[in-house]
Amino acid sequence: GLPARVTIWEVGPRDGLQNEKAIVPVAVKLEFLDRLAEAGLTTLEATSFVSPKWVPQLADAEELLAGLNKREGVRYPVLVPNERGLKRALEAGCPDIAIFGSATETFAQRNLNSGLEKQFEMFEPVLAGANGLNVRAYLSMCFGDPWEGPVPAEQVVRVGKRLLELGCTQLSLGDTIGVATVGQVEGLLAAFADAGVPADKLAVHFHDTYGQALANTVAALRCGVSTVDSSAGGLGGCPYAESATGNLATEDLLWTLEGLGIEHGVDLDALVKTSAWMAEQLGRPSPSRVVRALAG
Ligand code: HMG
Ligand code: MG
Repeated sequence: GLPARVTIWEVGPRDGLQNEKAIVPVAVKLEFLDRLAEAGLTTLEATSFVSPKWVPQLADAEELLAGLNKREGVRYPVLVPNERGLKRALEAGCPDIAIFGSATETFAQRNLNSGLEKQFEMFEPVLAGANGLNVRAYLSMCFGDPWEGPVPAEQVVRVGKRLLELGCTQLSLGDTIGVATVGQVEGLLAAFADAGVPADKLAVHFHDTYGQALANTVAALRCGVSTVDSSAGGLGGCPYAESATGNLATEDLLWTLEGLGIEHGVDLDALVKTSAWMAEQLGRPSPSRVVRALAG
């Protein structure tokens, strides 16, 4: 069956913007966040407390948090890779954080300057220091890796279970480069179920490189997942995985959820207007088909 309600984890301000070459002014980021909240999104991944040398676009994280119009009932999670990032997040008053691991050796090196085993040495002190915080874990390259090819489901489950065992409350399965197809999604979710991880601990995070993100999301909903990551207007990409394109567009997801009669709490028109505005700020049209169909 399908869930009655889906929680949308909006990653536009973080995943959507992290790959932009030209620095987006903090005022534009703040207006983007506020308009997303105004449209009814209640989980807004705001930024990352990572090395500014690695992701210059998000070097303004402190300034952003200081200027944020925090609304009641809205969560503003931030990415944190290590103890240094945790300290910064705590000082900025963030009660919601996300660590981000890799299911493959090569991406753990490329994205974290670490390794498949070694990444846990970075995350353990973060979890130890994060008592009382809500900690999500991302797992990247769950389906295919640009350097290693297809990633075996048992490897993904093994690394994912270890992240949950650290004390993370949710595991978001990332198709970082957007290569997954429906059968693979069903296979991986079945492998997690077999390993004793219930679907309500999982979220899905699809990039749309091959146009499969929406189909993959519906497959995941049918397997019992009810938290879906998406980005307004389909912005996004990872600077450390060249073949990564934008995330599943939140508008495309909303169109499908509406059609299925699944509750989501978001105003589609307000969101389309926000994405059209953001596309103007970035100087190129949104890749979302729904935004193009409804805007203007
Ligand atoms: P490193 O260079 O090995 O770190 O990077 P280090 O500990 O050797 O420190 C080097 C310098 O960075 C030092 O400064 C540190 O202070 C500083 P220096 O002494 O040279 O002046 N530093 C920091 N500064 C600010 N905040 C910090 C921090 N940590 C160290 N937290 C590190 C290791 C993990 C820091 C680096 O690799 C990094 O920042 N990586 C982040 C990459 C990233 O953000 N990628 C995109 C997000 S993941 C993603 O998009 C996938 C996802 O969407 C899911 C999916 O699609 O699959 C989540
Ligand atoms: Mg991503």
